[in-house]
Amino acid sequence: MKISIYGVGYVGLVQGAVLADAGHEVMCIDVDENKIDDLKRGIIPIYEPGLPGIVEQNSREGRLGFSTDPTAGVDHGELQFIAVGTPPDEDGSADLQHVLAVAETIATHMKAPKIIINKSTVPVGTADMVKDKVAQILEQRGEAIEFFTVSNPEFLKEGSAVADCKKPDRIIVGTDSEYVAGVMRELYEPFNRNHDRIMFMDIRSAELTKYAANCMLATKISFMNELSNLAEQLGANIESVREGIGSDSRIGYSFIYPGCGYGGSCFPKDVQALIRTADQNDIEVQLMKSVEAVNNSQKRKLFEKIWDHFAGELTGKRFAIWGLSFKPNTDDMREAPSRVLMEALWEAGAMVQAYDPVAMDECQRIYGQRDELMLAGTAEAALKNADALVIVTEWQQFRAPDFDLIVESLNHPVLFDGRNIFDPERLKARGISYYSIGRGQQ
Ligand SMILES: NC(=O)c1ccc[n+]([C@@H]2O[C@H](COP(=O)([O-])OP(=O)(O)OC[C@H]3O[C@@H](n4cnc5c(N)ncnc54)[C@H](O)[C@@H]3O)[C@@H](O)[C@H]2O)c1
Repeated sequence: MKISIYGVGYVGLVQGAVLADAGHEVMCIDVDENKIDDLKRGIIPIYEPGLPGIVEQNSREGRLGFSTDPTAGVDHGELQFIAVGTPPDEDGSADLQHVLAVAETIATHMKAPKIIINKSTVPVGTADMVKDKVAQILEQRGEAIEFFTVSNPEFLKEGSAVADCKKPDRIIVGTDSEYVAGVMRELYEPFNRNHDRIMFMDIRSAELTKYAANCMLATKISFMNELSNLAEQLGANIESVREGIGSDSRIGYSFIYPGCGYGGSCFPKDVQALIRTADQNDIEVQLMKSVEAVNNSQKRKLFEKIWDHFAGELTGKRFAIWGLSFKPNTDDMREAPSRVLMEALWEAGAMVQAYDPVAMDECQRIYGQRDELMLAGTAEAALKNADALVIVTEWQQFRAPDFDLIVESLNHPVLFDGRNIFDPERLKARGISYYSIGRGQQ
């Protein structure tokens, strides 16, 4: 099938490459000329395991192309995917300007019937807005070309996006057309062999399903984080509690890890956007507001522990930070807890010596060159003459470090662990002051 995808970010590029890999003919369009130039030269603008291989192979074999030319994009596919960003607007609602810009592009250039599929995370009612926009432009053009709007939200996880797209848990398709349902079934047939993963529903329910999924996951995290603060105060160990409740099959082990808060490009903005949608509809969503508030305060937890340990005397102190991305296996630093921590440390007059396996360029891009930030070449180099080590992202390679080297390199053997990756008893035995989440100070 011929497919055009607007937006070559984490969603558009991965989905485009995976659809091409399944045999479809995909053209990816982006307004960012640098990204498209890079992709044409085989340079992948994001870090995503497994992505370079399938982009290279499918480009070489002619199933995957890249362009900045919207006309070529509109001409190419009967299926037109919108996968552009929907960042939070000033009031927290999803900013739909990019989605509507693509709708306008399609409507302006289309010469044949199109199925317009929204993959971006968008508030309920957006498919109707896209429909109105396209209809209005076609009317201005004096054309009566048939088109359909579909909601097909994306559930991939950064860090395992390729695998998630190849084997999705479910494929949600919101449509009111039998014809479109048939086309979507054919499109996703290659991913549907093992069992039927496609769930058809009305468009509004599909749009809401995406928010419901992310808000539920964010709720689990904030619940555990809130509980971890209580556990700490009560002298309980939140990790024992986690295992205790996770063993209940109604609760399960996933997404109940306490930590220094959730970040990324999805949870924070999607929780905010759902709150905004509820406000606009005069519905009180107390739970979601609390989930957001708990997370915002949890992101400051590491800094508070550091502040308390050093009795507020942070001027001139150096902190080694391991992990900058909002979670392992990605270079994405959007809304990352590391940013809240670094900015608070700088505000307090401290210096940061940071290391991340893949997010260093992104960190440099965000913060530029500044005296209070040193990006170290290795995790070990970040430790040199630092007053403490802070673990913010639980990259696999941080889990079994050389503790002797840590003790030798630091001015004081102090470790703040925002992800509970170490055993408090073992660190205590090595003479390291160890602070983690919900387990008290050891
Ligand atoms: N990142 C994730 O893990 C994830 C997962 C599921 C859903 N989503 C949702 O998918 C959407 C895209 O997210 P992302 O992380 O891929 O975003 P991103 O910021 O990585 O990429 C968006 C791309 O869209 C491009 N763009 C903007 N306007 C354009 C236009 N008019 N025409 C063509 N391209 C345009 C930008 O240049 C950029 O390259 C968002 O709504 C997001 O909430 C993201």
